Amino acid sequence: MSVQTEKIKELVELRAKARMGGGEKAIEKQHAKGKYTARERIDMLLDPGSFEEMDMFKLHRCTNFGMEKKQIAGDGMVSGYGKIDGRLVFVYAYDFTAHGGSLSETNAAKIVKVQQLALKNGAPVIALNDSGGARIQEGVNSLAGYASIFYQNTIASGVIPQISAILGPCAGGACYSPALTDFIFMVKEQSHMFITGPDVVKTVTHEEVDKEELGGAYTHSSKSGVTHFMCNTEEETLMSIRELLSFLPSNNMDAPFTPCSDDIHRRVETLQTVIPEDPNMPYDIKDIIEPVLDNQYFFEVMPHFAKNVVIGFGRLNGRSVGIVANQPAYLAGVLDIDASDKAARFIRFCDCFNIPLITFEDVPGFLPGTMQEHNGIIRHGAKIVYAYAEATVPKITLITRKAYGGAYIVMSSKPTGADVNLAYPQAEIAVMGAEGAVNILYRKSSAEEKQEIIKEYEDKFSNPYRAAERGLIDEVIMPRDTRYKLVQALEMAHNKNQSNPPKKHGNMPL
Ligand code: HXC
Repeated sequence: MSVQTEKIKELVELRAKARMGGGEKAIEKQHAKGKYTARERIDMLLDPGSFEEMDMFKLHRCTNFGMEKKQIAGDGMVSGYGKIDGRLVFVYAYDFTAHGGSLSETNAAKIVKVQQLALKNGAPVIALNDSGGARIQEGVNSLAGYASIFYQNTIASGVIPQISAILGPCAGGACYSPALTDFIFMVKEQSHMFITGPDVVKTVTHEEVDKEELGGAYTHSSKSGVTHFMCNTEEETLMSIRELLSFLPSNNMDAPFTPCSDDIHRRVETLQTVIPEDPNMPYDIKDIIEPVLDNQYFFEVMPHFAKNVVIGFGRLNGRSVGIVANQPAYLAGVLDIDASDKAARFIRFCDCFNIPLITFEDVPGFLPGTMQEHNGIIRHGAKIVYAYAEATVPKITLITRKAYGGAYIVMSSKPTGADVNLAYPQAEIAVMGAEGAVNILYRKSSAEEKQEIIKEYEDKFSNPYRAAERGLIDEVIMPRDTRYKLVQALEMAHNKNQSNPPKKHGNMPL
């Protein structure tokens, strides 16, 4: 065999060994848990054959606790770049088969390398997490590794989309890298995120809780609002990441476009009667959102958290749009703390990435009560108005029914900078509902008198025309024409050129 052939054979062997990560037994153990290995995950996520791995032979430099004898090529991290639907993405995946996917100084440097390349080249980063956390044998070196990853997460925020999938354990400070990214995916009964696990919780607070209840996918998608997507399997998770990316630009200078095969003039006759005759009857706002989008397709984000507000992506005439909508079918669509947080963060995401905002509004107001007041509905509610007001992307609002009080103002009203405000004929734009208003203004009147004044108040304010008379509503539209009207408004604002005064950054209420 020639020297040349020997060298090539050596490379082939080294690669094959590196691809085995922590070895056959560890891979079997991973599979026995119903989990895929890091490389299998990357292969499923990316376009076939597109993955280019970097730092495959990188080793750790730890000599504590006999670690010098425990070397695994790549050190438990698989990182590099590839394509999703032909578009460049960067990816890194913790390899649980190697030292439990624990984070070392070395594999943190691999992550940072990928993060910096992604930032320089304007492409999304996807992190596939499955890790025992900081590599215990490395002490502070590992912690410093996390710190450098968090720093890069923060610097890249708003420049390139960052997506995290939690496919196994993610404990302690390790949770803060996903938390700093734009979207988190979790798998039912397989992913767990917590700052302190069940044992520590029991020691400190005497509370007995299992890891699923403490930090499983259901908990984080319905109670804490930490995660945006709960999936049934790893395959579903990886396919959903691909789908999410189809709505997103590669970076903050880009705008995604998919040729539209749906007629922009398509009328939706069901919308003529979608708003119930009784203004206090609920209806599902998605019955309006879905049929007006291209191919009637709505990709909902955070569907299980703060259901009184609905957020997600769709397309109008091929352009990605961010949808923010009150949901009258849940808590009458009232705005509370969680709904405010959910909407505000999504609005800011869309604004970072040039995704126009379409707001569907039917909101009776902010939720009253000590719970809300004492937990800061004032500062949380302020986030929505701040997020909408500072957003410079095209902003189109459609008031379908109620737009009362402060909630009218914060839901992208015209004076807060919305480009177009539309309303259905059933819209009611007022300081508050008729009964509440009359009870304040005519406290001392008899029940009979009040009924009469309520009727007068309704005749005066329970419509969109007072707002239209002031130019606060640009057009009262026929509900069945919603799709075309939104497309037209969006086309009108397509070349919108607006920027806020130069500043380091604003001081958003947090
Ligand atoms: C080094 C680790 C490790 C870690 C696991 N391993 N976690 N090695 N540092 N943090 C190793 C194990 O020793 C084992 O090695 C292999 O990975 C597989 O682990 P198992 O325990 O056999 O797997 P499993 O039974 O599935 O349990 C998984 C686990 C458990 C629940 C994640 O390993 C665990 O509790 N690990 C420690 C978690 C933890 O407390 N981490 C620190 C969190 S604090 P061998 O050689 O036997 O195969 C933190 C601070 C971050 O991360 C701060 C950032 C700012």
